[in-house]
Amino acid sequence: MTEPTFLLRSLPAPSQSGSFHPLFLAYEQISALESERIYGNRDHGSKAIEYAERMNDADEAHLAIVAIADESGVEAGKLAETVVEAPAGGGTADLNREAPASEGTAGGETAGGGTAQRAVNSLRVPTIGAQEHYAPEQVAGRVWLGLPLQENLNRAYVGIAVRDWQSALVGALFDIAEQLCAANGRTEIVYWLSTGQWAESGDVVQECPAPEPGSNAVMFALRNPEIVALEAHGYRPMVHEWELALHLDLAGQEQAVHEEIPVPTPGYEIETWRSPHSPERVLEELANIYALASTDMPGADSDEPEHWDIERVRNKEALYERINQDWLLSVVRPVGGEIVGWSSIGIAAGNPALAHQAGTLVRSDHRGKRLATWMKQVNLASLREFFPAVRTICTENEGNNVPVLAMNKRMGFQPIALSVRWDKDLS
Ligand SMILES: CC(C)(COP(=O)(O)OP(=O)(O)OC[C@H]1O[C@@H](n2cnc3c(N)ncnc32)[C@H](O)[C@@H]1OP(=O)(O)O)[C@@H](O)C(=O)NCCC(=O)NCCS
Repeated sequence: MTEPTFLLRSLPAPSQSGSFHPLFLAYEQISALESERIYGNRDHGSKAIEYAERMNDADEAHLAIVAIADESGVEAGKLAETVVEAPAGGGTADLNREAPASEGTAGGETAGGGTAQRAVNSLRVPTIGAQEHYAPEQVAGRVWLGLPLQENLNRAYVGIAVRDWQSALVGALFDIAEQLCAANGRTEIVYWLSTGQWAESGDVVQECPAPEPGSNAVMFALRNPEIVALEAHGYRPMVHEWELALHLDLAGQEQAVHEEIPVPTPGYEIETWRSPHSPERVLEELANIYALASTDMPGADSDEPEHWDIERVRNKEALYERINQDWLLSVVRPVGGEIVGWSSIGIAAGNPALAHQAGTLVRSDHRGKRLATWMKQVNLASLREFFPAVRTICTENEGNNVPVLAMNKRMGFQPIALSVRWDKDLS
């Protein structure tokens, strides 16, 4: 039997009009399969428009690269070599709005608005040509690279997904991801892996113990082909988060906690609003809270304090608007004073039954007064009022964040997946 052969192509960022390349539908299909593999249902898949529009994100440049099963391609084992030399006449990938990288150089740097901006170097993976047409089903796998543009400039986020985790394509995609990170001057790769399978013992990842919320049992991720590939490529497990879900219409609960009447904290007031935009008058205070979240959130992904200003808040909300993601947000403040806490919930684009508890933070000098509980109760009441189709709320909690795991357990959240951050040092 002959070996399957593949072509590697970059997908371009959507145009101003928002129209995106049809092969982003392959991202959507593969994401649905990944959701099924991890969660046992397709609810958690991302939509094509999310992948496409994230390429126009001002905070993070993205590269979207697909491996297409095609008889004019090469075997998986030789695929990484094709990244080194683009086929003659193949388009080059100037994928982002940043200044284009000069040919053959790694990640050129330009200064813009006082913030370091990086051009993206994917020149060695040809952009899909105007005359090339493939069905989304021909896409056997994809690599997704996120290159932070504001902080953590040494880092790249990588995500790989394939239709068949046993395929030789898996190893090739890991090699290619690494080449592209190096070509962009990134020395640290971060790869978040979610699994719905964990156990106390067996063929498990021993290096990353994860106390299970609600029990004293220490759990570990069960090894699967994705984990085996990470280990084979020199990635190391660093920290873990629990992904939790609250099902809003579980029968048999005497008094559903999510239906509790919000209990105000004396001396404080709450303000709640919905997508698409926050009021102009609060943008600066929101920026301050988001900056605080980058340092005060346990397990915060950022190694550096994030700088947030009004423009960055607007950009974040504009991205959600482009990907059709609704959200609602509550802030809390001493009556008449400045914002000291925030909590927000997003509604999954294209899946009105699924919401995501995005972030909750109360400034340290105002903690312990049930402000977080109050904001969450208010958000849940607003969710019921404005997004009544929502049946499930998901969230992620850093494994050692005892207060939040306690709060979420009390609200009825149950673990649905264990998410482990794997890092690779390329320096
Ligand atoms: C988590 C956080 C939002 C809680 O805010 P808060 O206003 O102090 O919380 P509340 O007063 O409403 O208390 C909520 C629950 O956590 C418990 N809790 C609060 N602080 C705690 C602590 N340090 N240790 C143990 N439990 C604690 C409370 O007892 C309460 O539990 P109960 O409902 O079972 O009685 C706040 O500590 C914070 O901002 N932490 C940093 C950011 C973060 O971790 N965000 C959540 C991840 S998205």
